[in-house]
Amino acid sequence: TRTPVNVTVTGAAGQIGYALLFRIASGHLLGPDVPVRLRLLEIPQAVKAAEGTAMELDDCAFPLLSGIDITDDAKTAFDGVNIALLVGARPRTKGMERGDLLEANGGIFKPQGEAINAGAADDVRVLVVGNPANTNALIAQQHAPDVPAERFTAMTRLDHNRALSQLAKKLGVTVSDIKKLTIWGNHSATQYPDLFHAEVNGQVAAQAVNDQDWLENTFIPTVAKRGAAIIEARGASSAASAANAAIDHVYSWVNGTPEGDWTSAAVVSDGSYGVPEGLISSFPVVAKDGRYEIVQGLEIDDFSRARIDASVAELVEERDAVKALGLI
Ligand code: NAI
Repeated sequence: TRTPVNVTVTGAAGQIGYALLFRIASGHLLGPDVPVRLRLLEIPQAVKAAEGTAMELDDCAFPLLSGIDITDDAKTAFDGVNIALLVGARPRTKGMERGDLLEANGGIFKPQGEAINAGAADDVRVLVVGNPANTNALIAQQHAPDVPAERFTAMTRLDHNRALSQLAKKLGVTVSDIKKLTIWGNHSATQYPDLFHAEVNGQVAAQAVNDQDWLENTFIPTVAKRGAAIIEARGASSAASAANAAIDHVYSWVNGTPEGDWTSAAVVSDGSYGVPEGLISSFPVVAKDGRYEIVQGLEIDDFSRARIDASVAELVEERDAVKALGLI
């Protein structure tokens, strides 16, 4: 039998946590033959709720689940961790300025980065889901100097999946007919879902759509503002779809992307496509041998250039703001 993979989930008692843990334990994160050991990190007030979720996990009798530990201590939570899913974050509350939000999250992601640095397994892979995801990932990464920077990623897979679904609907095709879609930049309203490199049954997606007005004024804003539309409709933010995207992100990372296709993930920039080195920005990525690599050599026209630049400028601002706060 295989040694279980240590998977740590922060914010385990939250709504994404509730949608995520059962799928991890049933084998969707890593594959149907990989046993997992779960570590749940919560703040002290939410430990009891996490214990309740753990009771339900027990009650599922998942054959692949080899144990559950619950803690409010980051050092304990990340000791020996192989896969770290950083979901818990401080949400923006009424009257909160962006600086306050970044500072509150710095207080979460700095110590978590330090704990990962101190105790994680050599092969640790980190996915940040908690918002502002790209910048939270940057903060954690900066406090884990002994971990290769490429192991820190942030989630734009939900945006990617949203874009797939919107495009499939528009063209009357299935999502499996679409390849090479990309989300560029920040996981925020400035993100840029790119149809100029995407292919639909072999044809360039933007040409298949052949409707620049829809692309610019319907598709891009629908994808970018989908989170707000879900809150409006559901009265709560995306949870099951966010958990599903986290599963997809890690599954692709570990098991690879299919030949002839790529996906989207926010990874540390190597300077590709004019994105400043070191920023954690969304790119087209392929996963091979357990690594995400940025797809190189795509031609970027003026329309795409302006949108990528605008989203990257926002990431630069966020980075400069957390630098000014002394968080990195
Ligand atoms: P939630 O509020 O239901 O749960 C968050 C949980 O995190 C709470 O149980 C809270 O106690 C916990 N938490 C707070 N600080 C913590 C800390 N220092 N250590 C451990 N746990 C801590 O929120 P929900 O809906 O589960 O969302 C979680 C995050 O994911 C939010 O920041 C949300 O904005 C973000 N998100 C990101 C998406 C993406 O595409 N990247 C999509 C949807 C949500």
